[in-house]
Amino acid sequence: MKIFMDTANLDELKKSVEYGVVDGVTTNPSLIARENLGFIPLIKEITTLIPGPVSVELTAMDFKGMMEQAVEYAQIAENVVIKVPINLEGLKVVKKLSEMKIKTNVTLIFSSSQALLAAKAGASFVSPFVGRIDDISGDGMALVEDIANIYDVYSFPTEIIVASVRHPVHFIESARIGADIATIPFSTLSKLLNHPLTDAGMEKFLKDWEKVKN
Ligand code: G3P
Repeated sequence: MKIFMDTANLDELKKSVEYGVVDGVTTNPSLIARENLGFIPLIKEITTLIPGPVSVELTAMDFKGMMEQAVEYAQIAENVVIKVPINLEGLKVVKKLSEMKIKTNVTLIFSSSQALLAAKAGASFVSPFVGRIDDISGDGMALVEDIANIYDVYSFPTEIIVASVRHPVHFIESARIGADIATIPFSTLSKLLNHPLTDAGMEKFLKDWEKVKN
């Protein structure tokens, strides 16, 4: 499973790159709004830091406005992926961009029917938001499993990005299901490594080493 970082924070991205486990980045308007850099320079910097796909979200509401933004953002760098909200105008944009060989990530996916239509329109990626489904007492991972099964049956090449990942269980369940990608906040990255037995084991080794090192 590939790991994308769900952040637009340059310090977090620089650290993540050093850990050697990052394959791409997803951003959204809320993540961009937390940073103090201008939108275009920030995206440019992120695409330079991370050689993999960098999702940049459209905010226009109609086909013409979305296409203007998409063309502008796609020119920033070759690894920009256009993040398109799932709705009827969005589907038209996905189809057009796919004809233009511009990659798309269809976002705000909360149902299998949305994911199926996005794939049919030619989406490169879809992003089901598992945490937000769990927030309203739904089952986010069940949605991912359902989408994965449907894509498998019809051999859709669209990749599933599990988004709105809130904790390590979401991450490992994504891997069990065979999701292509999990996009995770920086805070989740170190949680994936935490284990009390690793800490206790290291403490014991260091203590014993103190006795013999001279
Ligand atoms: O990239 C979008 C997604 O990951 C949002 O996560 O935690 O705001 O639901 P969250």
